[in-house]
Amino acid sequence: MRQAGRYMKSYQNLCEKYPLFRERSENVDLVVEISLQPWKVFKPDGVILFSDILTPLPGMNIPFDIVKGKGPVIYDPLRTAAAVNEVREFVPEEWVPYVGQALNLLRGEVKNEAAVLGFVGAPFTLASYCVEGGSSKNFSKIKRMAFAEPAILHNLLQKFTTSMASYIKYQADNGAQAVQIFDSWATELSPVDFEEFSLPYLKQIVDSVKETHPDLPLILYASGSGGLLERLPLTGVDVVSLDWTVDMAEGRKRLGSNIAVQGNVDPGVLFGSKEFITKRIYDTVQKAGSEGHVLNLGHGIKVGTPEENVAHFFEVAKGIRY
Ligand code: CP3
Repeated sequence: MRQAGRYMKSYQNLCEKYPLFRERSENVDLVVEISLQPWKVFKPDGVILFSDILTPLPGMNIPFDIVKGKGPVIYDPLRTAAAVNEVREFVPEEWVPYVGQALNLLRGEVKNEAAVLGFVGAPFTLASYCVEGGSSKNFSKIKRMAFAEPAILHNLLQKFTTSMASYIKYQADNGAQAVQIFDSWATELSPVDFEEFSLPYLKQIVDSVKETHPDLPLILYASGSGGLLERLPLTGVDVVSLDWTVDMAEGRKRLGSNIAVQGNVDPGVLFGSKEFITKRIYDTVQKAGSEGHVLNLGHGIKVGTPEENVAHFFEVAKGIRY
């Protein structure tokens, strides 16, 4: 998950030295160093690449930045057929060679002690940033496009679909051992619109990746996905990552038995007492059952989370025996 402002002091120190997000996330040495920071301290079973779902955009002819205090900014939002026609297909080896290099180096660093995880943004979520111009509250611009000029949006979604399928393969070829697809804003869509503007594209990505990389586990996360749960396995992913607004036992039942689950402790629980954190971990693990569960938070860690509580989470998690 995006680690909301990255709570660790070691990261904050690096931000002072390298104040621009794009500099931190597009330089191989910094990407490797930042990716390893939480792993060195907490030794989780997974190391997530330090990057962003928006990192491919410049390679698709969509300039962006992440501005402190404001979040992502797309300088020329895509609002017309002509603008969408200018969007190029993404060629990862050409535009983000530092991602491949960083993944290779990370594999060398963590050896077999942890899995190296890659990630991409889902077509609808990427499109929502590009059409809205950044983060959004009411998603009116992308909905205007979806409901008044759907052909333009479908054109954009198809470009992201082809591009993200290549990007997943590129990450896997360079060392990523599982890849998470973030459809963070899919739940802004009603289920019927999810079926038109997100689901078919997710399925296309999964089908394409499975053809060339049948053993690569694919994880799907959509925040607030309670209303869509039954539809998520239709994408063909191996794991659905649940946020904490869904009860783990109910989520399991609704997703069916052929799919693994990830999650879903409320990140806010890490502000609680150690006893409370322990209780919630056990509760989640028990509800998830003894197979096919990746214990995780239900979203990224929040700013101000005490590091010792994060350490406690990992200690308890690693002590669990089935
Ligand atoms: O935390 C990590 O190091 C994991 C790598 C990671 C980042 N972004 C780095 C990042 C991951 C997995 C993401 C995914 C991401 N980026 C998502 C999907 C996950 C989710 O939260 O639903 C989304 C929607 C984005 C887009 C994005 N990037 C937003 C909305 C923001 C927040 C802007 C803000 O001001 O907080 C970012 C910036 C960003 N990406 C940060 C990090 C650690 C925080 C800013 C910083 O560290 O400079």
